[in-house]
Amino acid sequence: MGMRRLGATEFEITPIGLGCMQFAGRGIGERYYPALEKDTVTSIVRSALDGGVNWFDTAEMYGRGNSERSLTTALRDLGAAPGKVVIATKWTPWLRKASSIGATIGDRLASLQGYPVDLHQIHMPYGSLSSVPSQLRAMADLVDAGTVTSVGVSNFSARQMELASHLLRSRGLSLASNQVQISLLHRKAERDGTLDAARRLGVTLIAFGPLRSGLLTGKFHEDPERIRSIRGARRALAGFNAKTLARTAPLIDELRAIGRAYGVTISQVGLTWLITFYGDTVVAIPGASKPRQATESAAAMDLRLTRKELDRLDELSRTGEKS
Ligand SMILES: NC(=O)c1ccc[n+]([C@@H]2O[C@H](COP(=O)([O-])OP(=O)(O)OC[C@H]3O[C@@H](n4cnc5c(N)ncnc54)[C@H](OP(=O)(O)O)[C@@H]3O)[C@@H](O)[C@H]2O)c1
Repeated sequence: MGMRRLGATEFEITPIGLGCMQFAGRGIGERYYPALEKDTVTSIVRSALDGGVNWFDTAEMYGRGNSERSLTTALRDLGAAPGKVVIATKWTPWLRKASSIGATIGDRLASLQGYPVDLHQIHMPYGSLSSVPSQLRAMADLVDAGTVTSVGVSNFSARQMELASHLLRSRGLSLASNQVQISLLHRKAERDGTLDAARRLGVTLIAFGPLRSGLLTGKFHEDPERIRSIRGARRALAGFNAKTLARTAPLIDELRAIGRAYGVTISQVGLTWLITFYGDTVVAIPGASKPRQATESAAAMDLRLTRKELDRLDELSRTGEKS
């Protein structure tokens, strides 16, 4: 599968990147995913690189820089030099003023250990003590200063994207991306105008939770007892429960059947659907806690689905998504 341009930036990215929330380590991140050993992180990053993945999504919020440090330690150990991969990180708005974007960029760069901030994102459009326009102006200042290369947002609505795009344009810049949750089991971006706005504005949508936190792998359908091992916050976020498993079973069955025909897994079919169905606008950042998962996700870029298969999954997904 060909590379995708990140918004109107110079960056050519693979349709699949690696989500690095799983590298948050000890602390609040453990409410979602257990902390990983250093060697495991290195193996996951190696698997992603070996599979052709050329970009990584991390955030200040993922362990207060721990994910950024773990990722770049692994990249350095693996010989993936700065500039050879694309790095996206995020600023945390919670109870902070826009001025903290400039004040904390040094921390981001320190945590990234010599790797550049190719894409800096506002993690969410709420929680800050300053307005979103003032946050975007602070981001634009960083681009003007050459400290970061491009600006993205996350969890922004269509209207908020329009405003962000407009404001950055007034500074001679463009909005590169909006990172929102999209998957076969979460298609709000289609209904609320985010997808249309992204297409109109030339903004890339970065799909987080592309496997619906693991539900789209089929492993919970095969063994519902596994849900017990899922951390509370993650369980609540993706609606891990018996009702969800029952509602989504027809979709999982179809993913399994298509996967069998091609000799690939349920999650690979789900990811291929996601990076194909919406054309070039949507790229995905599946997370991984095991190297094999990163290998599988990257290999979703090698699979081609027919129009009929894409449409059948589209149809089943609409039923699976609704209550
Ligand atoms: N901007 C935001 O607000 C926001 C919010 C959430 C996430 N994100 C970003 O999006 C990334 C992805 O989201 P996510 O990690 O929450 O959800 P996800 O990618 O939908 O699910 C990842 C989880 O699915 C399971 N998995 C992945 N590949 C698998 C495979 N091949 N076979 C079996 N299981 C597999 C693993 O679960 P186990 O670990 O249990 O094995 C893995 O931790 C994050 O890493 C982060 O970078 C952004």
